[in-house]
Amino acid sequence: MAFKYDDYVYSKKIIARRLQGFVPEVLITLGSGLGFMADEVEDPLYVPYDEIPNFKTCTAPDHKGRFVFGKLCGKNVAVMQGRLHCYEGYTMEEVTYPYRTIRLLGTEKLILTNAAGCVNMNWHVGELMLIGDHIRLFGNGPLQGENIPEFGPRFCDMSYVYSQRLQDLAESKARKLDMPLRKGVYMFFPGPNFETPAEVRAARALGADAVGMSTVPEATVAAHCGMEVLGITVLTNMAAGVLPQPLSGDEVNEAAAKAAESFSGLIRAVLTEM
Ligand code: HPA
Repeated sequence: MAFKYDDYVYSKKIIARRLQGFVPEVLITLGSGLGFMADEVEDPLYVPYDEIPNFKTCTAPDHKGRFVFGKLCGKNVAVMQGRLHCYEGYTMEEVTYPYRTIRLLGTEKLILTNAAGCVNMNWHVGELMLIGDHIRLFGNGPLQGENIPEFGPRFCDMSYVYSQRLQDLAESKARKLDMPLRKGVYMFFPGPNFETPAEVRAARALGADAVGMSTVPEATVAAHCGMEVLGITVLTNMAAGVLPQPLSGDEVNEAAAKAAESFSGLIRAVLTEM
């Protein structure tokens, strides 16, 4: 189904009614293993996705499928406790629907987090990576179909998807916290299967440092509707073929849980000043 501008406006209206004047300054999407950060939101107001018209809900493990609106580090936030993925059978348009909807509330900043496989042979599992840029070469993009000019132009510039200002802020906060923070290129694969070793070698040859199944659809739509985006990845496993062993979802979740404390520390530090 192709959504019209009025569909987004209607969904926004339903959320706004629940929010009673509260306007989130920052939208934060919590990836695998990070859902717990939503429990740190003060004066939380929960809005499950399935109570909002046109929203899909989460089927991925550890993705609760609700917004948590409230205060975090002094900022009004909308936290997505669980995101939608194309591998759940949703279209790119459905996956990115919440972002355009929240943008209509007046929210201008977005923090996207995720877990990803590490393609860069010099880096290690458990490290955090600032997303400097991304690659999505194949498959559909979320802006295909009729353009909605109220959100942005038909031919959207992608030169500055990830805000330099927010990258600088994250790097300076990481230094202060004495926390190593890599910076690299995230390459999107649709999943739900992990990549083949040959795909990982191809990703490396193309300039990717990490591979994952999320974030790029959301960042693309956010760039289109003029949001300032910060993307942070936790490298939960060496990508397929790097080590002589198979990958598993459990390995990803365990590594994400281990990195959770440093991840949330960095996000809180950035949020305070963003
Ligand atoms: N590939 C794709 N997505 C992922 C991976 C991976 O190796 N690890 C965590 N998410």
